[in-house]
Amino acid sequence: FKIPEIRNEPMKTYSPHSEERAKLQAALKELRKKAPIEIPILVNGEEIRTGKIEEQRIPSDHATVLAKYHAADHATIDKAIKGALTAKVNWEALPFNDRATIFLKAADLLSVKYRYKLLAATMLGQGKNAWQAEIDAAAELIDFWRFNAKYAQEIYQQQPPINSPGVWNRVEYRPLEGFVYAIAPFNFTAIGGNLPSAPALMGNVVLLKPSPSAVLSNWIVLEILREAGLPDGVIQFVPGPAEDITEQILKSPDFASLHFTGSTHVFKKLWRDIGNNIEIYKSYPRIVGETGGKNFHVIHESANIENAVLQTIRGAFEYAGQKCSATSRVYVADSVWDKFRTTLLTEHAKIKIGPVEDFKNFYGPVIHKASFEKIKRYIEWAKDDASSEIIAGGIYDDSKGYFVHPTIIVTSDPNSKTIAEEIFGQVHLPVLTIYVYKSEDYEKTLDLVNKTSEYALTGALFAQDRYAILLGHNKLRNASGNFYLNEKSTGAMVGQQPFGGARASGTNDKAGSATLLYRFISMRTIKENF
Ligand code: ALA
Repeated sequence: FKIPEIRNEPMKTYSPHSEERAKLQAALKELRKKAPIEIPILVNGEEIRTGKIEEQRIPSDHATVLAKYHAADHATIDKAIKGALTAKVNWEALPFNDRATIFLKAADLLSVKYRYKLLAATMLGQGKNAWQAEIDAAAELIDFWRFNAKYAQEIYQQQPPINSPGVWNRVEYRPLEGFVYAIAPFNFTAIGGNLPSAPALMGNVVLLKPSPSAVLSNWIVLEILREAGLPDGVIQFVPGPAEDITEQILKSPDFASLHFTGSTHVFKKLWRDIGNNIEIYKSYPRIVGETGGKNFHVIHESANIENAVLQTIRGAFEYAGQKCSATSRVYVADSVWDKFRTTLLTEHAKIKIGPVEDFKNFYGPVIHKASFEKIKRYIEWAKDDASSEIIAGGIYDDSKGYFVHPTIIVTSDPNSKTIAEEIFGQVHLPVLTIYVYKSEDYEKTLDLVNKTSEYALTGALFAQDRYAILLGHNKLRNASGNFYLNEKSTGAMVGQQPFGGARASGTNDKAGSATLLYRFISMRTIKENF
């Protein structure tokens, strides 16, 4: 069959007094009432309860446990690997259309049946406001499922190789031999869904380790996939202690691929571990990863300043700066700095901070204590640094939830830690650092931005002057995987802006594109003589 034309899922706005807001509020209330939810491990379709209980707490109300989940132990992981390899025999033999149907059905189920339940879990568990939860746990995940099916169909339907007289040449796209290990982050429910789904769509079997801070939402995604008909054993859900689980999985000879989203230092460690185990494996593992960013906005003097400020506020502070794509450094031309600063402080003052269950709040908590402590140290460092001035925020309070006010630092040193370096191993912060450059040094500033981009995930240029745009476009070519013009560094849409970064930010395999799917297939060439 041919996949119907795919469009982006329309987003709901949750405006006051709307039916959708009432439904989401009811789902939040119900989840609060039911908490803590007990979550098992899922292996071969069997729910396993090891009794080794861990907790997922509500970040805006850390006294409350949202979910209690069973942590996988050695025997469970062993069973999960064996079971996945057994399930693979039938799964990879299933025609693509039948596999695709499951993910297309899951997209419809999420759209019409599970939307509010998954949004409520994402809001309470991961601290997203309703709109941020909608663009992630509803729209983006639905889009991943639908667009991946379209991209996969295009891959499978490609023109075959040419033939010569008496010869019939074919190519075949096989899944990888072995299993895929997916490690999911806390900050996007959609990524927790896509990490196992993209390889599974291509005929692979997957072990999924959710983030301890997003177990509930990841579990609901699995429920949806099961209801859509995903056979047992294709995605094994194995929450638990990251290091133990990962060490065991990476020692399996059948480990065929890592599909990772998380921090840079963990990704580098996994890469080294995989390298050290290389003699064990039957194949060279495919390593696919997306990590952090130190994402920039460059403001040229020709920019529309109102737009540049609004985009900067949204890029830096939506979801409390915890998107990997969040804006963390801004370079502003001195000729427009006064206007930029005044407008920025006016907009900053409008940000409503508090628990996201209250729909008037734009800005919620950070995810957990460790994150809170790191940001605190970051802010304290800036307070003591002679070249840094905190012009807004700098306040934090974890008495009830992990709240750090959106913070803006101006630095006079373009190589200052907060603008040029990752510090404390944490780049997802609600902290923005600004450097004001001399307007006539625009070109030099572009070189500086490129030179200080150890990460290269996202970046944006704000300008109206076409020569300035062209210069930025060329000079910043390798400074980001996603480059935005007059638009913030966050908010890539599946099907519109394939997403990913290079340098320390990842392997740039672009979620929401055929490129990612190619990483999970292995081509076989067949030549037959007549
Ligand atoms: N895809 C997400 C964004 O672009 C991470 O913000």
